[in-house]
Amino acid sequence: MLKAAVIGVGSIGQNHARVYREMDGVQLVGVVDANPQTAAKIGARFNVPHFTDYNSLIETDKPDLVSCCVPTSLHFQVGMELIEQGIHVLMEKPITSTVEQGQQLIAAAKAKGVVLAVGHIERFNPAVMELRRRLREGMAGRVYKIHAQRLSPYPSRIQDAGVVIDLASHDIDLMRYLMDEDVTRVYGETLQSINSDREDMLNGLLRFKSGAVGVLDVNWMTPTKIRRLTVTGSRGMFDCNLLSQELFFYENDVAPSQWDTLSILRGVSEGNVLGIRIQRHEPLAAELNDFAGAVREQRAPTVTGYDGLETLRLALNFVNSGKENKPIHD
Ligand SMILES: NC(=O)c1ccc[n+]([C@@H]2O[C@H](COP(=O)([O-])OP(=O)(O)OC[C@H]3O[C@@H](n4cnc5c(N)ncnc54)[C@H](O)[C@@H]3O)[C@@H](O)[C@H]2O)c1
Repeated sequence: MLKAAVIGVGSIGQNHARVYREMDGVQLVGVVDANPQTAAKIGARFNVPHFTDYNSLIETDKPDLVSCCVPTSLHFQVGMELIEQGIHVLMEKPITSTVEQGQQLIAAAKAKGVVLAVGHIERFNPAVMELRRRLREGMAGRVYKIHAQRLSPYPSRIQDAGVVIDLASHDIDLMRYLMDEDVTRVYGETLQSINSDREDMLNGLLRFKSGAVGVLDVNWMTPTKIRRLTVTGSRGMFDCNLLSQELFFYENDVAPSQWDTLSILRGVSEGNVLGIRIQRHEPLAAELNDFAGAVREQRAPTVTGYDGLETLRLALNFVNSGKENKPIHD
């Protein structure tokens, strides 16, 4: 039985607590929140001890693993203290506020021999898992373009990050995961309208090493929630709804044959549309199972500290690109 705890049981942290409470092979030994009412409420809901300070939790019943769900500006400080205590950490995304902090956190986890996972949850969306499997099999052929739309109303509770770090980081991580190759250039047009000091809209472009292009359309300025990803290749286009966990494939009727290894595109026309069956599950449950599995099996988690760091670095490049009105090359 692994002992688990959650630090910061606000909006996302309380869901981590619920999932640990229901997980086989894991015992939720406590929840921590600096706000005493929140700590007491979530402790009572899951019938576990609650604390306002994580040192009290560690002294009372030291957990093997912790989900760190405090606001982003505290990720580094809280994460370092947990790692120093030899506790395995799942850090909610983004890994930290700065690249230097992320590097230090990764180095500390390596030195202590603990797992450091980062909560880029979309990798555990079953529609994404199926999409990745089919891309690997070559169903889309050569990939030309990956396009993410993540549009939302304005969130009043996020005080310490702009939309690039908070939202676009999900899609930057997804693009890296699905393309499995390095990004050579980013360019972002950002807009700041509601926030006084951070962007609330990004229209961004990424160039991958293979020449494929990533397009990011992300904002907090839309009075509805849209989470959509399309991947266009020589053999057709995948259309993935991340909210409803649906995946469709639009065939290119004049696609290069499977045997044409060069995948030369001679034309594009409408072909069959295939609805792909998805075995739905809760992405957070899959993420925390993967984290506990990494601890148990002493292996790397699906989203490593390095993945979190690379995504943060690219996200910060988008922020700077938007400020400086120029592409940023690697
Ligand atoms: N992966 C995702 O999809 C996802 C979704 C939402 C949030 N997040 C990330 O999770 C983190 C938290 O976001 P949220 O929306 O849940 O915020 P939130 O404000 O709802 O919750 C944060 C909680 O941390 C508590 N807290 C603050 N300082 C603390 C401390 N020193 N010790 C213990 N508790 C402390 C606060 O009282 C609050 O209850 C952010 O980094 C955010 O980017 C990730």
